[in-house]
Amino acid sequence: LNVVVILVAAGSGVRLDAGIPKAFAPLCGEPLLAHALRGVVGCGQVAHVVIVAPGSHLQQARDVADQCPRVDIGVDVCLDVVAGGADRSASVAAGLAALRPDDGIVLVHDVARALAPAELFTRVIQAVRAGQPAVVPGLAVTDTVKVVDAQGRVLATPDRTSLRGIQTPQGFLREVLERAHADGASATDDAGLVERVGGHVRVVAGDPRAFKVTSRLDLAFATALLQDGPYAG
Ligand code: CTP
Ligand code: MG
Repeated sequence: LNVVVILVAAGSGVRLDAGIPKAFAPLCGEPLLAHALRGVVGCGQVAHVVIVAPGSHLQQARDVADQCPRVDIGVDVCLDVVAGGADRSASVAAGLAALRPDDGIVLVHDVARALAPAELFTRVIQAVRAGQPAVVPGLAVTDTVKVVDAQGRVLATPDRTSLRGIQTPQGFLREVLERAHADGASATDDAGLVERVGGHVRVVAGDPRAFKVTSRLDLAFATALLQDGPYAG
């Protein structure tokens, strides 16, 4: 089965407040989109990438895609650019509409998780190939998490050992993801839509480098990782 990655990059990045959509915010001299594409293509198993970009920035997204080095997987990596929707789920749906007939395994990835390493893509793809129809990377939660009401009253403290912070890339058999999106529903991740229609989702080990760049603090952390960290280069 061919692997396609829907790279959702159509958000405006209000919390980052960079003056441009987050996908184009610079990190060590390159837009977040370029960093994210390196992880996607670097795993060497992706035949097709659909970049879902802001409608106002389609040409800029194409320019970044044209600069992207393509790891040789025997076939050329196809890069398409399409316009996103009003929320994340609508942007994923726009990506689904651009799939090609050969695309059998679909990964959905946030451009905001720009430093997700190639190994994480490989892990998710392998789990789907091994027979899991829906796979999400997750990490143990280090904070204690509380359920609160609108007044800030604590209602419950779930057992932390049963909680996972869920990342992307999330991987699916194509028909599973298409069915989950069929009614146009919205959720904060794609696995949530699969769960809603009764699908089974499995967690594999996440990676701390797949953290989401949301604020300027996250961008500073990403810069430090690239410049001084064990992931420099
Ligand atoms: N996203 C998208 N289309 C949208 C909204 C979000 O493709 N209409 C994508 C973002 O580009 C991002 C991912 O979904 O890669 C996760 O969203 P988030 O981190 O919230 O990014 P933004 O929506 O851009 O940021 P903010 O919420 O601060 O505006
Ligand atoms: Mg958002």
